[in-house]
Amino acid sequence: MHGNIIVGQSGGPTSVINSSLVGVYKTAKDRGAKKVYGMLHGIKGLLDDQYVDLSEHIKTDLDIDLLKRTPSSFLGSCRYKLPSISEGKEVYEKIFAKLKELDIEAFFYIGGNDSMDTIKKLSDYAILVDSNIKFMGVPKTIDNDLATTDHTPGYGSAAKYIAAVTKEIIRDGLVYDYPQFTIIEIMGRNAGWLTAAAALSKSEDCEGVDMIFLPEVPFDIDNFMEKVKELSKKKNSIVIAISEGIKVADGRYVFELADHVSFTDAFGHKQLSGSAKFLANKIGAELGVKTRAIELSTLQRSAAHMTSRVDITEAFQVGGAAVKAAFEGETGKVIVLERVSDDPYICITNSQDVRKIANIEKKVPVEWIINDNTYVSDELIHYIRPLIQAELSPVMVDGLPRHLKLNL
Ligand code: F6P
Repeated sequence: MHGNIIVGQSGGPTSVINSSLVGVYKTAKDRGAKKVYGMLHGIKGLLDDQYVDLSEHIKTDLDIDLLKRTPSSFLGSCRYKLPSISEGKEVYEKIFAKLKELDIEAFFYIGGNDSMDTIKKLSDYAILVDSNIKFMGVPKTIDNDLATTDHTPGYGSAAKYIAAVTKEIIRDGLVYDYPQFTIIEIMGRNAGWLTAAAALSKSEDCEGVDMIFLPEVPFDIDNFMEKVKELSKKKNSIVIAISEGIKVADGRYVFELADHVSFTDAFGHKQLSGSAKFLANKIGAELGVKTRAIELSTLQRSAAHMTSRVDITEAFQVGGAAVKAAFEGETGKVIVLERVSDDPYICITNSQDVRKIANIEKKVPVEWIINDNTYVSDELIHYIRPLIQAELSPVMVDGLPRHLKLNL
């Protein structure tokens, strides 16, 4: 490899997404790439002529260590949907002209299923214009909803954070001797993988959450209220985990049952927020008890002080594997993780055709949702547990985790 490469980050960030960036950067440099460019705000930035030479921003081994531990996309992100090739030829011409000007031999995009749509379209266009540039997807998303991969980098750390704070919330709830409900709202859009991680809170030292509601099955409010009333007769502190994406049978999100204005992004995704508040208010009004709604919101995807070492290591590996594959001639592919063994936990990387991944959402199998749709099965817990293992300590400066800042 004697030319240059370019890398971008796209979609919602994770706490280990920069470990993948380091994986791409370091592996490309080690394998002889001249320059490693970084798009600012993904493909949108490239279209606006915004990019950096990463060597000017990652200068020392300490920078590498800090960047791995820095949450949220170092290069900035975007939720930009490329037009179809037939409708937006000029956009593709502009991107390919830019790539030619920068002497790019391989293009890497770190993202989820929407971002893989970008890799798919760019690799399709490369075939059309007979370009030799290689296009590779590097998977990431806390939602864990990418098809054909055992799991996605970013998920394990978010799951670890969710399980840990859920334990703390449950413990906090035990202090008073009067009834109270806490509803925890967890991200994941239309897939319940993240919400399921609340089940890991149950351990020798913690009774765990009382109910878990995933978006894979319709949410029945009457049934929910009945269960809530039954629980309130048995104990004081009740903690319930819900997915931000739970929907009632007619297809409306629960938060849409309240007066709610929601932002919609370029991929048509509504901003999902407010279901916990809606349900907490309803319980408060009907039962006359104290309630709290806790939205974990961006905390769960930026908690770099509590990453899983398994996750941060795999995030690096998928970045490196993408570079290796591209340098060996692969294109139009995404790196996937294959679980070879559970005990001991072993995962290897492989590459998969991007067409089998782009725009597809992998959901929790419904047979893993149990107890009248109010909890998750042991199989699901068994699947998640290896992904949250071990830690990588932050570099602490002046009492706080230190991050690497992009100085422009
Ligand atoms: O795609 C990951 C994710 O964190 C989802 O879980 C969440 O619904 C969404 O991003 C939020 O998107 P944004 O950061 O654009 O508000």
